Amino acid sequence: MNGAVTVDQAWGLQNLFPTPARVRPREAELFHQAASLHAMTPPRRTTRTLAVAAGKGGVGKTTIAVNLAMAMSMAGHDVMLLDGDMSVANVDVQLGLTPLRHVGHMLEGNCTLQDLIITGPHGLKVIPGGSGARRLAQLCNGEHAAVIRAFDELILPPEYLVVDTAAGVSDNVAMFAAAADDVVVVVCDEPASLTDAYALIKILSQDFGVRRFHVVANMVRHAGEARRLYEKLARVSERFLDVALDFMGMVPHDERLRQAIRRQSAVVDLWPSSRSAMGFKQLASAVDTWGQPMYSDIGRIAFFSGQSEPVTGW
Ligand SMILES: Nc1ncnc2c1ncn2[C@@H]1O[C@H](COP(=O)(O)OP(=O)(O)O)[C@@H](O)[C@H]1O
Ligand SMILES: [Mg+2]
Repeated sequence: MNGAVTVDQAWGLQNLFPTPARVRPREAELFHQAASLHAMTPPRRTTRTLAVAAGKGGVGKTTIAVNLAMAMSMAGHDVMLLDGDMSVANVDVQLGLTPLRHVGHMLEGNCTLQDLIITGPHGLKVIPGGSGARRLAQLCNGEHAAVIRAFDELILPPEYLVVDTAAGVSDNVAMFAAAADDVVVVVCDEPASLTDAYALIKILSQDFGVRRFHVVANMVRHAGEARRLYEKLARVSERFLDVALDFMGMVPHDERLRQAIRRQSAVVDLWPSSRSAMGFKQLASAVDTWGQPMYSDIGRIAFFSGQSEPVTGW
């Protein structure tokens, strides 16, 4: 009697979850045809990549990349965050993650980009840099291109890729920014921040053909100050360079944010109603309103461009 009950339950469960062996032959054939068709179709470019850059160090690039990516994850998007400041990796430190491998291991051929992914809070996927890895500070352009192209090999491309970049206007920063669909320029109320942001915009527009920039004012005291900073940068850039800038939003100066960094957490996650967290959430909603990227894929090295090339040259 007991045996019969067990068999009946097992039968019911099998009916609920048909295993491949239970799929009828014709269905199985169609299934295999669809799978092989899928394998033949080149990967579609569905990921939107945002690079966070500034020119100047210490203005909040990493903080904005981490919290913007987390805010987007918390809003339900599938987001990946690349630590593009590869030799002084800060992203994993800000998120309290302890990666075992970094981009250098991939370039040495010891693992794939897929193997580097670690998952943080709210499903945010992180590709870590390598703290103190001197070699990563001296990558040549071919190696940067190899990192960018490695994204073509990801099994499940995310909806968004956020790239944190290094300070300065080196080829390293410019290549990552130019390979993205959107460049977010971070400024704060310091003369060097505005001049360095202008230098970055000039190089990206004149040497790499980037035409649109989204400006974030960080560490501001009020909305008026944020607007004033944006207008200063936009006025001079649009006058002397062939570019268009828009005001993406602001993040106020917030002691809570510093405390969150000390606790190795994103403030949007730890204190979602803090002043800075509200700013980050507004930045995340601004991304949702952006139209199609202005960029054409022709003739440039771009993230998720579908040009699969082996990762070599390290
Ligand atoms: N909105 C803000 N409010 C208060 N402090 C901030 C804010 N943004 C950044 N900071 C401080 O500035 C420091 C440097 O930020 P970080 O993101 O590492 O800059 P970058 O990546 O541009 O070098 C942070 O460790 C934090 O202490
Ligand atoms: Mg940084």
